Amino acid sequence: MKELSDNPARPAPGVRLCAVAEIADPGSKGFRFRADSRLFAGFLVREGEAVRGFVDQCPHAGWPLGFDDRYLTRAGDHILCAGHGALFSLDGTGVTAPCAGDRLTAWPVEVRGGEVFTA
Ligand code: FES
Repeated sequence: MKELSDNPARPAPGVRLCAVAEIADPGSKGFRFRADSRLFAGFLVREGEAVRGFVDQCPHAGWPLGFDDRYLTRAGDHILCAGHGALFSLDGTGVTAPCAGDRLTAWPVEVRGGEVFTA
């Protein structure tokens, strides 16, 4: 898998993504950035005041995990890959086949003043 920094579509650090309040709790929100023909896809997961970012690429087959803002199970307790149904804990650790023990790639973000920024 290529490094995140190899993708020119990945937003630079400091780009505002959204307000924390725009993400359901628990909930998720997807983002797409384009640069010429390249695409960077990432998503945020909120759990209380904690917000984590992940690259939207499943470790199994490399497919996007979700779409729009739908990345979590209905109960909101796991990240669900729409490809083949793998479940991940909200910290990005795979807990069911075919991704048990795998990890989602982190997309570093930070919360400042109730807003989420790339880090
Ligand atoms: S692509 Fe995610 S489980 Fe297969």
